[in-house]
Amino acid sequence: MTLEVPEPAPGDSGPAEGRAESERGLFITFEGGDGVGKSTQAALLQEWLTARGHTVVRTREPGGSEVGVLVRDIVLHHRGEIAPRAEALLYAADRAHHIETVVRPALGRGADVIQDRYLDSSVAYQGAGRVLGRDEVRNLSVWATGGLLPDLTVLLDLDPAVARERLEADDKPFDRLESERSAFHDSVREEFLALAAAEPGRFLVLDASRIPADLATDIQGRVQSLLARPAPTGSVGDAD
Ligand SMILES: Nc1ncnc2c1ncn2[C@@H]1O[C@H](COP(=O)(O)OP(=O)(O)OP(=O)(O)O)[C@@H](O)[C@H]1O
Ligand SMILES: [Mg+2]
Repeated sequence: MTLEVPEPAPGDSGPAEGRAESERGLFITFEGGDGVGKSTQAALLQEWLTARGHTVVRTREPGGSEVGVLVRDIVLHHRGEIAPRAEALLYAADRAHHIETVVRPALGRGADVIQDRYLDSSVAYQGAGRVLGRDEVRNLSVWATGGLLPDLTVLLDLDPAVARERLEADDKPFDRLESERSAFHDSVREEFLALAAAEPGRFLVLDASRIPADLATDIQGRVQSLLARPAPTGSVGDAD
């Protein structure tokens, strides 16, 4: 993960075209371990959608809002233990504020939101690797966000050892989660795959060892099919 600043700052890129202003945008999240290529694919998808006239907001969790940057600093860089329930609540606080102030407003005005990490990361990392149960971590996120689930979640699946090599090649410092033992990263990977298996309609699972252009093509294909779908009837302003 990049340590300093949210990448990129939430912002719009390009005018919407061919979609009514009132039409809800697509909510697309990227998931997977550190260094699997989430930022790379998020950037390629943003480029692709923008070239098609869409307004795109690219954002991230934790740290996708001003409050979130402060929370991100605590959860990723605090030295020493954070009690698991406190950690879960910190992530949920970041998420609640981010969804309310950044994501729902963007979707509501018709922008597509491309987000790096969302509730599946919380479930995979906290539910699996730590002491809290998957369901309680997931339910906390669902409560925090008023039940907002992505239209599409792209899971980039990769051997954590390969991902680690990529990050080392980038000379990226490891943050608190990244520096945990490899068995933990292996179990996080398994957790992500189990989440995807449980919700096959929402997930697109890709072998992230493939070249970036091929992965991008697969992602574009899935997004294209979502764009062709009739607009959902629910309003993103509804809390439940
Ligand atoms: N499909 C790929 N094949 C090989 N290398 C890749 C691929 N995708 C991305 N990379 C490279 O791997 C490194 C990590 O990619 P990227 O930053 O996109 O991953 P990330 O999942 O966003 O990582 P982080 O968890 O640190 O945010 C970068 O050097 C990137 O250029
Ligand atoms: Mg990244």
